[in-house]
Amino acid sequence: MDVLELVKKRRSIRKYSSKQISHEAMVKILEAGTYAPNAGGGQRSYLVGIRDEKIVRRIGRLNFLPFDRSKLLGGHVSDEQPSVIDDSRIEDGFYGAPAVVVLFGQADFPFSVADAFCSAENMVLMATDMGLGSCIISRGEETFITDEGKALLKEWKVPSNYICRAFVILGYIDGEYPKGKPRRPGRVMLVE
Ligand SMILES: Cc1cc2nc3c(=O)[nH]c(=O)nc-3n(C[C@H](O)[C@H](O)[C@H](O)COP(=O)(O)O)c2cc1C
Repeated sequence: MDVLELVKKRRSIRKYSSKQISHEAMVKILEAGTYAPNAGGGQRSYLVGIRDEKIVRRIGRLNFLPFDRSKLLGGHVSDEQPSVIDDSRIEDGFYGAPAVVVLFGQADFPFSVADAFCSAENMVLMATDMGLGSCIISRGEETFITDEGKALLKEWKVPSNYICRAFVILGYIDGEYPKGKPRRPGRVMLVE
């Protein structure tokens, strides 16, 4: 697919079928994540791809727990693909997606957040090109503050000085693919 066409096609998907993505798809998406631009060329991000749906549901719940809707009252994200901001019945920060990539960055590296989101963008574009749904999810650090969260980090051999910066949820889209949102005008200046 033409790159601009792909970039315009990508949408945040929050309605998933229960069908799991393949091992091969996860490997390819992780590979795309590792090829992102990264500050200083240090390749510091640590990516954990999870296709075990039970574990994904556990983390989705841990991700939702620190969510404070009262801080976002009046916010609106999407009617077609409602987020936790839009629909108070949603209690899974991962929206039932069967797979997730957890992105970690070095705690004391000032560009670790930027690095993580560059990787995340590569991965959501890769997923879109493969016909999969995806969505970038935040509240990374808060997701793992409980003992249950900390135990998962140990299991995944996440270095102790690393912090979760973001997630990319993945799966097959349930229902219609959302329409493109129009771009807000006046955000681009061209000087030539
Ligand atoms: C830094 C960042 C954090 C985000 N965090 C969340 C999140 O926690 N939950 C969620 O449902 N969507 C999250 N999103 C997705 C945005 O809501 C989405 O990109 C935005 O509404 C635009 O819609 P689109 O991606 O379909 O174009 C995040 C996106 C970015 C870039």
